[in-house]
Amino acid sequence: MPASPDLIIRNALIPGGRIVDIVIREGRVVHVGAGGTGAEQTIDAHGNLTLPGAIDMHVHMRGGAHQSYKETWSTGTMSAVAGGVTMVVDQPNTLPTLTGRTTFCERVAEAREGAYCRFGINGAVTPDADLAGLWEEGALAFGETFAAASSYGEAIGEDDLKRCLGILRRLDALITIHCEEVLDGRDVDLALHSQLRSGAGEAEAVRKLCTLLSSGQRSHFCHLSSDASVRAACTSYEVMPHHLLLSQEMFAIDDAHEKVNPPLRTEKERKALWNVWEKIPVIASDHAPHSDAEKSGPFETAPAGLPGVETMVPLLLSLVYEGKCTLTSVLQKTVTRPSGLLRIIPPGFTPGASADFAIYPGEPEKISAERLHSRAEWTPYEGMDGVFPVVVTCNGRVVYDGGQFTFGAGEWVRGQGYKKNHEK
Ligand code: DOR
Repeated sequence: MPASPDLIIRNALIPGGRIVDIVIREGRVVHVGAGGTGAEQTIDAHGNLTLPGAIDMHVHMRGGAHQSYKETWSTGTMSAVAGGVTMVVDQPNTLPTLTGRTTFCERVAEAREGAYCRFGINGAVTPDADLAGLWEEGALAFGETFAAASSYGEAIGEDDLKRCLGILRRLDALITIHCEEVLDGRDVDLALHSQLRSGAGEAEAVRKLCTLLSSGQRSHFCHLSSDASVRAACTSYEVMPHHLLLSQEMFAIDDAHEKVNPPLRTEKERKALWNVWEKIPVIASDHAPHSDAEKSGPFETAPAGLPGVETMVPLLLSLVYEGKCTLTSVLQKTVTRPSGLLRIIPPGFTPGASADFAIYPGEPEKISAERLHSRAEWTPYEGMDGVFPVVVTCNGRVVYDGGQFTFGAGEWVRGQGYKKNHEK
């Protein structure tokens, strides 16, 4: 007789309109349909929408000795889970940068202590990085690679980048790349910031980078912010909710809270990005928390970056409810495509899938920093509509239920180099 299930989600309305019971054992879906008995725990999802947990392949969880005032693995992943994200991929521009085995392993240990959801950790692409060592230790991918400088990231020169591309191609590892053209000048407000790091310049930088990518290179552009860049991309890429939903015109021009790289564009450019919505492979948040105090200082010296892991799916889902985009397109961009790109088992409604689910109500609520969980304690989406999950499971366990979190289901998702190294 098969062992009893750990969890059954009953009466789950799933994409496509079926109402099913989802039977879960040992972190995996074992049956989707009617029935299932004897589970340790049962959730009734009646009247709500059950979706696979999202994979946010671009977050900065901060933490460590120097940046825990901005975010920690606990606060960052609580924020993720409360926004329906059940896996985050952390970027390596930490302090210290993740360039070698020791710093990488320390980062994994820190994440294991704090993470409420699955996590992957990327290795850094810098002139001195030990790419093969990072791959063997379990880096999920590499980057964001700073082809242009940003907060906590120095630009890598072209020769070093070419060398790193060659190594990563041989390892068959994914490289993710931050492309921008950065002009000299004083970025004293949102408009100037966007002129010095323009959408057209970004598109040109993407075109140039494309000439360095050989066939068979696993590659992905980070946070493209203009329709021109999307059209210029020769490989996979991601677009962020803030470039789709926010523009300079929505804020006081010298408010550094909305300073981000690549910058918020004009309302006209923001709308143009929607013209290419169907083409976009991946949506990720670029969750880059900085404290309110840091963001309240002079524009020029304030760090760039916005918190966003908790609001990404809620914002998109409220657009689905409004009829602005389809649920299918949102799930492709936040679940299917990122899993394929990262070569991980996606959550879903078939036996064997990871049992990571988020259960959403039928109505949006107003986003308010007060009810979010990031240590940043502010959001650029204040007052906008978001559909937030009421219950979230990860690895077959309930990690979030009506505002309460349970620790213990977080799991490190290793890259393929780790497997090869440790399983032969
Ligand atoms: O605005 C940004 N902030 N862009 C980046 O590329 C890095 C990020 C950060 O780490 O704060």
